[in-house]
Amino acid sequence: MNQEQLKKAVGRAAIDYLVDGEIVGVGTGSTANCFIDQLASVKHRISGAVASSEATRQRLASHGIAVYGLDEVDRLPVYVDGADEINSAMQMIKGGGGALTREKIVAAVAAKFVCIADGSKLVPVLGRFPLPVEVIPMALGHVTRELAALGGRPARREGFVTDNGNLIVDVSGLEIVDPSGLETRINQIVGVVTNGLFARRPADVCLLATAGGVRTLTAR
Ligand code: A5P
Repeated sequence: MNQEQLKKAVGRAAIDYLVDGEIVGVGTGSTANCFIDQLASVKHRISGAVASSEATRQRLASHGIAVYGLDEVDRLPVYVDGADEINSAMQMIKGGGGALTREKIVAAVAAKFVCIADGSKLVPVLGRFPLPVEVIPMALGHVTRELAALGGRPARREGFVTDNGNLIVDVSGLEIVDPSGLETRINQIVGVVTNGLFARRPADVCLLATAGGVRTLTAR
């Protein structure tokens, strides 16, 4: 199976986690898009979706799926989203698509986070994928200096503005041995909206697509 087929396989597998009659939270990215396309065929089973980005909102709407704002829903039993990296504790780096802040907000509300990923995303230590940080524009210089002081190599994502009107700084060269500690530390830098470490609220389950089939992983 090629990577596209692997993404489709986990998109399909995530359908098993829907709760009938409820709203589902939907993430952003190419793997989440595979889930959205599968969701279209079972949309009668759910009452709608909450989107983690404008791109996801548009894709859901194009399939005729009702999209609600997060504040319009009382509860969110399940959130399905991809990851850029995931470790055995189900902690992730996310934000390759720049939607990390809304993804983190939706994940915080959801009772269960189902991560869908192809096998290449499972890593022993997070940090090979540059860590995305969403930054208020006027704080760019300050935040960049603070991130460099932490030992990484920060670089502004050129020509990119988030759905919230902010900038993304990608930090490469980090070997993240304490994901929760680093998540907290970066979020304390004034001008940071949030960073792409999902360690304090990890996934509850990861559906990992491999050549041998879809594996179901939980935290070790
Ligand atoms: C979007 O901002 C990201 O968090 C994505 O969920 C993540 O980058 C995974 O994307 P792909 O499924 O496209 O690899």
